[in-house]
Amino acid sequence: MIPLNEPFDLVLFGSTGDLATRKLLPALFSLHFDERLPSDWRLIALFRRQHDDFLDALQKSIMSKHSFDDKTVKTKWNAFIKHIVTFSFDATEPGNYGELKQVVDQKPNVNTIFYLATPSALYGKIASGLAKAHINTPNSRIVLEKPIGSNLESAVKINQLVCRHFKEHQIFRIDHYLGKETVQNLLVLRFANTIFESQWNQKYIDNIQITISETLGVEERAEFYDHVGALRDMGQNHLLQLLCIVAMEPPARFTPDAVRDEKVKVLRALRTLTDQDVHKKVVRGQYASGISNGNAVEGYLDEEGVDPSSETETYVAMKVEIDNWRWAGVPFYLRTGKRLVHRACEIVVHFKEVPHSIFDLQHKNTMANKLVFRLQPDEGIRLMLCEKKRGPGVSVRSTELSLSPDYLNRKRVPDAYERLLGDVISNNQTLFVRQDELIAAWDWLDPILKHWDESEQGPESYIAGSWGPAAATLLLAKDGRLWDETCRPLKGDEADSVIKESGS
Ligand code: BG6
Repeated sequence: MIPLNEPFDLVLFGSTGDLATRKLLPALFSLHFDERLPSDWRLIALFRRQHDDFLDALQKSIMSKHSFDDKTVKTKWNAFIKHIVTFSFDATEPGNYGELKQVVDQKPNVNTIFYLATPSALYGKIASGLAKAHINTPNSRIVLEKPIGSNLESAVKINQLVCRHFKEHQIFRIDHYLGKETVQNLLVLRFANTIFESQWNQKYIDNIQITISETLGVEERAEFYDHVGALRDMGQNHLLQLLCIVAMEPPARFTPDAVRDEKVKVLRALRTLTDQDVHKKVVRGQYASGISNGNAVEGYLDEEGVDPSSETETYVAMKVEIDNWRWAGVPFYLRTGKRLVHRACEIVVHFKEVPHSIFDLQHKNTMANKLVFRLQPDEGIRLMLCEKKRGPGVSVRSTELSLSPDYLNRKRVPDAYERLLGDVISNNQTLFVRQDELIAAWDWLDPILKHWDESEQGPESYIAGSWGPAAATLLLAKDGRLWDETCRPLKGDEADSVIKESGS
């Protein structure tokens, strides 16, 4: 693994939040554990109220995340905490920025990374507080968590405020789905091979489905989530970013702006939704009580912290069309939801059927080729093909070519935040969202939000532990299609490139 050489200070706003303790700080510890960090780094952890048990809680969260069976874990933890400075800080209190400057100034020659894991309404205030106290320099970086804004107008405003004090090359808008291993593998598969790219268009592809399904409910984030909902939490960023990676043209180079230039073209080519389209092509749902992972769970409206009359969606499905030569007539079906039957994230590329079958048509629907990119819980790629069933006569069956990476056999798969944190430290913006992408995504989404605001019809309820509302099944049924719901885990013994049967 490549070491990260530049000394740095990571100033983390919102250090006790769910994101920091569940994802970000465990990722930082993993980089430290793997000895990828330079010797000179500090985490300046800011939180509003003093938390005496911060380190204990963090240790618990980190150790529960990975099974570090290495005997050195205790020693590594003790070394890790020596890099941490905790600091009581209120972002709305101007005087606090002067005190922060004193801490940052203790290390004048390191790169300072400001990581904003707070509600985005605070981003402008924090950026200007840092500037007024002269804490940021031309070498500083600022990382912004999603969702940035709650609609087009607020996203534009927040960006303008941050851009007054930081240049675009200093701003890292993070979407952790871009840090997942399979996403990069998808880029390599598309752009380092000729066989797929030549088929990657409306001539050969029938439809593409992107599913991010979660079994979790809103957990401890109910208050935040109830103001946000699935479309802003997952749709505006993760789903649309995955769509961009699948649909973009080949960039001329693998450089930050070349990649992002192509992604933004996809977002700008998304067919604008009229009010009628939103009604026909977008489905929103909210989970009711049910069974999740074998346990009875309550409905969204009964969750602590949720307004009992809330119309916030916990599920969204949409049919998206891209108006360009490559994708004319190919629907992209996107969906995400909480409290669904499985935890999985898959991109399924459905190829067209052969124009004329000379074989028995009994299994026609299952015979079209499919390329499945599985992002989680395990990661891998598989291609569904047809072959002759062994034995007398000629009957055709579906078979599977698995291209699962060898790291499936390793003990620990690096987390998306590890990669992206490493990219911030080494100043590589390729996997971060540029301002024009963010605005284009909100621009496309705004009609949906407006339509929902004005609509008298709330989200359709679905049973926790199901695949979501019935209207989502109908969305595809109207087009004569079905959601791909195989979502089968890959196993360790499938880690090599092997051809496996998948029924007859
Ligand atoms: C976050 C959302 O961006 O992604 C959460 O805010 C969601 O609501 C999470 O649970 C899912 O991430 P992952 O990597 O666990 O699929």
